[in-house]
Amino acid sequence: MAIKVLTEQEIDEQKQYMKKVANLMAGKKYHIYTMGCQLNENESEKLSGMISEMGYIFTDVPEEADLVIFNTCCVRENAEDKILGQLGYFKALKRNKPDMVIGLCGCMAQEPHMVEKFNKTHGQHLNLIFGTHNLYQFPELLYKAINENEKMIEIWDMDGTIAEDIPIKRESKIKANVTIMYGCNNFCSYCIVPYVRGRERSREPKKILEEVQKLAKEGYKEITLLGQNVNSYGKDLENPITFAKLLESVVKIDGIERIRFVSPHPKDFSDELIELIAREEKISKCIHLPLQSGSTEILKKMNRKYTKEQYLELANKIKKAIPNVLFTTDIIVGFPGETEEDFLETMDVVRKVRYYSAFTFVYSRRVGTPADKMLDQVDEDIKSERIGRLINLVNDILEEENEKLVGTVQKVLVEGYSEKNKDMLTGRTDGGKVVNFEGDSSLIGNMVELKITEQRKWYLAGKLL
Ligand code: 5AD
Ligand code: SF4
Repeated sequence: MAIKVLTEQEIDEQKQYMKKVANLMAGKKYHIYTMGCQLNENESEKLSGMISEMGYIFTDVPEEADLVIFNTCCVRENAEDKILGQLGYFKALKRNKPDMVIGLCGCMAQEPHMVEKFNKTHGQHLNLIFGTHNLYQFPELLYKAINENEKMIEIWDMDGTIAEDIPIKRESKIKANVTIMYGCNNFCSYCIVPYVRGRERSREPKKILEEVQKLAKEGYKEITLLGQNVNSYGKDLENPITFAKLLESVVKIDGIERIRFVSPHPKDFSDELIELIAREEKISKCIHLPLQSGSTEILKKMNRKYTKEQYLELANKIKKAIPNVLFTTDIIVGFPGETEEDFLETMDVVRKVRYYSAFTFVYSRRVGTPADKMLDQVDEDIKSERIGRLINLVNDILEEENEKLVGTVQKVLVEGYSEKNKDMLTGRTDGGKVVNFEGDSSLIGNMVELKITEQRKWYLAGKLL
């Protein structure tokens, strides 16, 4: 098993395939379904980039597409039911449209038992399946699937690849995601990611900075640096550097006004990073600090490598250094062996840290992970009762925190018109909160100062200063 940095020649070869596909398919329509995290969204943008180079045009009506790609996630079970349902729907559609090409990629494609399931139930109408390590190879696989009318399944079992200079078609013209590293080495006992995404591998800082510089030139204002555990960025490079050093260089790029990053791991959140966030205005003061559980006992079984006390100490240290900091988090309830007392420890941390928002999940068994083999699995009804209580607490805190914002002045990056009310502009605060307000279209893409006038739980209302 190894990590492969793809050569320019290998990427160029794919460009030749893009031309070949364009000769056959220019003007046809495509649609992509993206499940899961921002990393997957970023990879779908790369798929979109390649597909557009191949002459296809995006359609948001999947039924009229000639090419449909499912970019899958396997972090939790509900995604599996969803995708099997969707594939069933397209099976029926394809009866009347036999030339439709259907592809599947992403994390589920790296799970042998899922590929077997796809082949068994949907083998007939799935034209290509490819994994997370060979996304760059998509043009070649698509060409072969179309031209040779052959089913293409290409999945690599390896530690991972790094592919630079893949075309990209981004969702927004204002804010952009930039993946800085791939894979994860942490092996939290519930998590499938290290198995389907391979080992940690960092992109060269030069490549990342070039990408951000290009985005700044194109007028982008907000950048989110992505990785499964950004705090380990750079450790594997030939010339190792820290994540804080990379972030410091990104801050210096003119034109970028707000920088976010997800996700850091609490076990290695350095003082160097805390000082940098405190010092640099451009770095968002909203920090995602995944808790997972508030019980030291459960954290140990989760292989998270911190205790409840260490987590709280870190949160307090950050609060001291950055007084206006906001925390967001991820929490799992119902991990094997979680007792009522363990769950109350989680509720206690939520009350102490007062997260601004929390992604809450019911533990989901993942084939091949250590937690799946644990004998003390929690009953489903206990899990749903606990998540209900947790969500209520999180929502109460959210409303109280939102209330505190009423009357304050917030810097908001204006993203466009509100979907619900086309007369209102919409943007986000540093804390990621949606604010709707009245204003002129010329403000889109700018950072403005708004006075918050009202809170409506899921969004705020504001007034231009
Ligand atoms: N069950 C439930 N939630 C999970 N997550 C990861 N694996 C699982 C699982 N097996 C959650 C974690 C992680 C987020 C991206 O998804 O909270 O931080
Ligand atoms: Fe999964 Fe843990 Fe890695 Fe996050 S840090 S991707 S939860 S193994």
